[in-house]
Amino acid sequence: INKAISKMRSPLTFKVIAECSTTKARVGVMSLVHSDVDTPVFMPVGTQGTLKGVLPDQLINLNCQIILGNTYHLGQRPGIETLRKAGGLHKFMNWNRALLTDSGGFQMVSLLQLAEIDENGVNFKSPFDESNCLLTPEHSIEIQNVIGADIVMQLDDVVKTTTKGPRVEEAMHRTIRWLDRCLEQHSRNDEQSIFPIVQGGLDPKLREECAKELTKRDVRGFAVGGLSGGESKDEFCKTVNLCTDYLPKHKPRYLMGVGFAADLVVCVALGIDMFDCVFPTRTARFGCALVREGQLNLKHSKYALDMKPIDDECECTTCSTYTRSYLHHIATFEEVSCSLLSVHNVAFQLRLMNDIRESIKANNFPQFVRKFMKQQFADGV
Ligand code: GUN
Ligand code: ZN
Repeated sequence: INKAISKMRSPLTFKVIAECSTTKARVGVMSLVHSDVDTPVFMPVGTQGTLKGVLPDQLINLNCQIILGNTYHLGQRPGIETLRKAGGLHKFMNWNRALLTDSGGFQMVSLLQLAEIDENGVNFKSPFDESNCLLTPEHSIEIQNVIGADIVMQLDDVVKTTTKGPRVEEAMHRTIRWLDRCLEQHSRNDEQSIFPIVQGGLDPKLREECAKELTKRDVRGFAVGGLSGGESKDEFCKTVNLCTDYLPKHKPRYLMGVGFAADLVVCVALGIDMFDCVFPTRTARFGCALVREGQLNLKHSKYALDMKPIDDECECTTCSTYTRSYLHHIATFEEVSCSLLSVHNVAFQLRLMNDIRESIKANNFPQFVRKFMKQQFADGV
């Protein structure tokens, strides 16, 4: 029956329901096979088929509509056989809302830094033994077809934004060639949508050429990649702005790997609809809680006697149950504190996106941005 129902839902429709009159910000509903997603959206990252320290039920209580998984990690462990036998990642991890998987190459190159890239794919040399793992565009899509996410990403050739010279252009052109190999391999286009990824470093001409070429393909949404890697804020914003200018207005636009609150607000204004980042859950594991004024490092002794919640306007279970003092007490030695802080930090990101959407709908997004920036960049917490 589930199969019959999912067959009936179209794989992706995107409807813009409100637009800001002075910026490129818009509110939309992206309908996927497993759920509707209100955009602009922040997608928490569950690299290994779980958000570290947060269970699916808790994500549902937070009104989370879509999460992200990583092809490289899941392809290594548990591996394609287990995922196939489980009937895909939704069933395996007990998450029946929308999922997006990243293609794996970026993780191999930028996180592991042990990868070599050639035209065939990304080659990862194990630090432990002689073994090699080659991720080709075809293999990435094969794994992603088994994982079964609503949105799957093409394998792309990513270079650091600090890279200069012909390597940037090579990576951009290779990304286009790899997209065509991914589209050729993709076997579940009636249930899963492939998003191409605009590359081209910080070079406006390369970004323009890439975006124009990708938009010739028959796909349902686009991503902007290769940013948030050490470039200046000015270069970052200019590149995002240029990319959204060349991407179609009636399809969702996803900015990969971006999740600082101020960047979310700015990039929504530049026309971005989707974001993901490990930052909120990673910083939680270091004892940091996100608030509109910045971050609280709960390990700091100044919270030892602080009987307020992290944020008295936050409705998450952590804020309605525990004081900063208690979280300080457990933050230095208890694993459960990672879980409590992750719940709050995901709640923080989702509430920020909700507030952004509401302000666009109420036609006062510019006022929201001003107020947000004042809070965020005021001195001290
Ligand atoms: N995550 C953050 N940036 C990128 C990117 O450029 N490509 C991919 N595939 N994933 C990313
Ligand atoms: Zn909270």
